[in-house]
Amino acid sequence: MQTHFSSEQFLLQGTPFYYYDIALLDATLAEIKRCIESDAHWHVHYAVKANANPTILSHIAHAELGADCVSGGEIEAAIAAGIPASRIVYAGVGKSDWEIEIGLKHNISCFNVESVEELQVINELATRRNIVARVAFRINPNVDAHTHEKITTGLSENKFGIDMCDMEEAIYLAQSLSHVEYIGLHFHIGSQILDNEPFRQLCLRINELQERLEKSNIYTPNINVGGGLGINYEDPDAESIPNFESYFRTFREALQLREGQQLHFELGRSIVAQCGSLISRVLYIKKGHTKQFLILDASMTELVRPAMYGAFHKVQRISIENETTVLEKKDSIYDVVGPVCESSDVFVKNYSLPSCERGDLIAIRSAGAYGESMASTYNLRPLPSSLLG
Ligand code: LLP
Repeated sequence: MQTHFSSEQFLLQGTPFYYYDIALLDATLAEIKRCIESDAHWHVHYAVKANANPTILSHIAHAELGADCVSGGEIEAAIAAGIPASRIVYAGVGKSDWEIEIGLKHNISCFNVESVEELQVINELATRRNIVARVAFRINPNVDAHTHEKITTGLSENKFGIDMCDMEEAIYLAQSLSHVEYIGLHFHIGSQILDNEPFRQLCLRINELQERLEKSNIYTPNINVGGGLGINYEDPDAESIPNFESYFRTFREALQLREGQQLHFELGRSIVAQCGSLISRVLYIKKGHTKQFLILDASMTELVRPAMYGAFHKVQRISIENETTVLEKKDSIYDVVGPVCESSDVFVKNYSLPSCERGDLIAIRSAGAYGESMASTYNLRPLPSSLLG
């Protein structure tokens, strides 16, 4: 499925803005549903941090996915979009008391607890409300996801989760507390993972852990394997819907679930990345001695991934003469940059594009995940608006 940019619509909208191809989002959600419909005990929770745009959230609610939240704000946004609290899980190494209160007030399905200190606070706050909070422990499985060091989380030297060797002790503590109920184990090994092997390794690790816990007579009703499935940034139209089939198959084949055990996924990027593009205008073409700079009106404040992680996003000049065609002619080499006063405000260097003029529309592709949600107002720039197609 190829994203078509409707230039007529775009001409009326002030740049920069995020464009979301909602038909592609819906097709992606339908594909997930198709892949897991035979598994009644499988549940996908959308990782709200990837994109909390209200329209996107409402499509996700409509597709009956749950939500994986990492703040009180995300819990409220998910609920406002129509995602029931019974499908909301809440993770994060530093949950503030007021955020835990939001989770308790809505009676969310599970707190993914990252330390015994946090467990004690949840128990205390739940006691005051005279309710029992369901908790799962985030365990650090020590699986190398072979991804960017800033987005890998499953190795033992990370700040996330509880060390495997402390697992039983944490569960026993939960079982001894009056206002929490131990309901599961939570894992997440990293993000933008393109090879299923790390997920298979995760499954094998979970199998071992389960056997170990069973020896101590601990039964775990829920297994949450987190998110992390990557997408094709180089060629978004070649793979606009990620290969969910083979991702889910990895778990079906390698994970040994017990009778009645529920399996949870927390996918973010793979659901929303390809449906979003950051649309910008060329402000200037600055000709240096050795290179040309294509200076856009979009910057790292709308899309920080290139500046922050050195991430690649495909850049396209969108034809404004023809409603849907993206010009293929490539005849100039540019450093594509934004206007912010930071030398890292660069989208891509030495990049070949059809020759551009001031005013041309540029699409920065695969920006639906961790784009709008990571936008800032640095340099007092306004937050980007969005257009849904
Ligand atoms: N579950 C947990 C516990 C997580 O920490 C994350 C992402 C997810 C699920 C969703 O992962 P996904 O399916 O989207 O890979 N800002 C970075 C990505 C940070 C990911 C943080 N955790 C980026 O722009 O690449």
